Amino acid sequence: MRTHYCGEVTEKFIGETVEICGWVNRRRDHGGVIFIDLRDRSGLVQVVYDPDIEDVFKMAEQVRNEFVLKITGLVRARPEGTTNDQLSSGQIEILGKQLEILNKADTPPFQIDEDEVSEDIRLRYRYVDLRRPIMQERMMLRSKVSRLLRNYLDDNGFMDMETPMLTKATPEGARDYLVPSRVHAGKFFALPQSPQLFKQLLMMSGFDRYYQIVRCFRDEDLRADRQPEFTQLDLEMSFLSEDQIMDLMENMIRGVFKDALNVDLPNPFPRMPYDEAMRRFGSDRPDMRTDLELIDVADLMAGVEFKVFAGPANDPNGRVAALRLPEGGKLSRKDIDEYTKFVGVYGAKGLAYIKVNAIADGVEGLQSPILKFLPDDVAMSIMQRTGAQDGDIVFFGADKTSIVNEALGALRVKLAEDLGLMNADWKPLWVVDFPMFEWDEGSNRWHALHHPFTAPKTDQIDLLENDPGKCLSRAYDMVLNGTEVGGGSIRIHQDSVQQKVFTLLGIDEAEQKEKFGFLLDALKFGCPPHGGLAFGLDRLVMLMAGAQSIRDVMAFPKTQSASCLLTQAPSEVEPSQVRELHLKLRLPQSEKAEG
Ligand code: AMO
Ligand code: AMP
Repeated sequence: MRTHYCGEVTEKFIGETVEICGWVNRRRDHGGVIFIDLRDRSGLVQVVYDPDIEDVFKMAEQVRNEFVLKITGLVRARPEGTTNDQLSSGQIEILGKQLEILNKADTPPFQIDEDEVSEDIRLRYRYVDLRRPIMQERMMLRSKVSRLLRNYLDDNGFMDMETPMLTKATPEGARDYLVPSRVHAGKFFALPQSPQLFKQLLMMSGFDRYYQIVRCFRDEDLRADRQPEFTQLDLEMSFLSEDQIMDLMENMIRGVFKDALNVDLPNPFPRMPYDEAMRRFGSDRPDMRTDLELIDVADLMAGVEFKVFAGPANDPNGRVAALRLPEGGKLSRKDIDEYTKFVGVYGAKGLAYIKVNAIADGVEGLQSPILKFLPDDVAMSIMQRTGAQDGDIVFFGADKTSIVNEALGALRVKLAEDLGLMNADWKPLWVVDFPMFEWDEGSNRWHALHHPFTAPKTDQIDLLENDPGKCLSRAYDMVLNGTEVGGGSIRIHQDSVQQKVFTLLGIDEAEQKEKFGFLLDALKFGCPPHGGLAFGLDRLVMLMAGAQSIRDVMAFPKTQSASCLLTQAPSEVEPSQVRELHLKLRLPQSEKAEG
């Protein structure tokens, strides 16, 4: 229907007749002349209609925003003073000769160039929202990133293979989405939380290198970087060490950043043990764009009378840490109250602080409501350890280790953002040497930090029996600017080790057989050493696009409450369908009350 995309019509075509199709971005009447900005995915072009072709002009008068048109016209230079350097077609305009209205449009729920539209409206009319240039750019970037990833993997001998969507639960730590079976009364499929076990089976099947861009489903509490269905770039490789896998993967990510954004990521990516990440940054996905660091001071606080500090300082599961903010002395009482509220969300009971006015004056030069609880020498030792200087503020967290880490870990990023201390560079990082297990107080048992198929360090298999809490795994996470973009591990490839890990996790033999019998069997029939990882494609593209939420890089995302505003899913179904699935329909409380 057309000879060119709108954005392609440039001064090269002056004097030529072109045919273009697209949506009316805007129509303006200028005393007898009508201007139409026509838009397609490539951009905008301005079309002018003079009244001398009467029937075409009449038609142009009827045109409204978002009508779909086909236009034929003559390309000419724009008159002096009317050019627009923002547009690729900004030096020219098209003198309209013909106009075909391919379709009319109701007044759109919002203007395409409107910025402040509520997300609910955007999601409800997603097809209109997706016409916005920024959304078009994001989707194009996503498509490009997928293509670059595929090209790289293709070049490196990876096979693209599919795995089932209707399957058995794989434990990735979230709740499953279940699909009731009609054929097998009372039985359910689970949608995959990831293709983890299938990709391992593909290694056992001899395919050597696998990848898949695949949808995963997790029924969990949603956040800006979490969706109930999301996309992974999932990978698995045989006969490679973790170093080789990490090299291959960071090389891929470097290439994608170079080709898509012309950004040079560091080579190699730095690596940091989990332990160090938690100690210095309170997080296993530290944002390295800021230097702010947590500094342990429990040993200095252990003897003070102030219970808030002495308690956690003497508790093996407690932590007392300081966070020095250079030039933070300028924060007001109100700012500090806000930050106290901020850490409260992570369970912190308070946010003690010391302002440093003049360090040379000793404690006289410090200012804080907690100074009266601290002996002078303790206060000064803390100042010395944190390297505090005049004009700084030092914050404190004292609580269970996990609370202090989460609270101060989040605070360092928040402070850096608020005070403009964030480095503009990209900061990738591998986090390595994760513990195999974490003790879960709630359920009183070990739980796998990655998943139960992750291998322990080769020389630490004994620790599985003797001291599981000390056993490190062969897992690695790729972190970019404080977001975990990918994670994986070398897997267990011996059935005896796999059984040991299951047992440690409180999965008894019967349950092992019932849930993972097929895996334990497969491990006995010639399983190669293997490992892999999965990237969150949505998260990766979100970061690359500079978007705030993964919803902005997904064409049809769900809301925070896991529903689709466009289709109104999930929705009710016919009672007969429910019966067919051998389920009993439970009506919502309100409808029951009405009878
Ligand atoms: P993991 O559970 O760490 O590992 O997931 C891999 C990556 O997927 C992304 N991700 C998500 N993105 C959006 N919404 C979600 N709800 C969500 N959950 C996870 C993250 C994460 O790094 N099978 C293993 C991988 C392996 O061991 O090979 C797995 O799924 O970016
Ligand atoms: P309080 O004696 O409870 O008024 O606390 C004195 C100071 O210590 C206040 O600035 C509190 O914000 C702070 N504070 C209280 N509990 C904690 C805690 N667990 N960690 C860090 N600071 C705290």
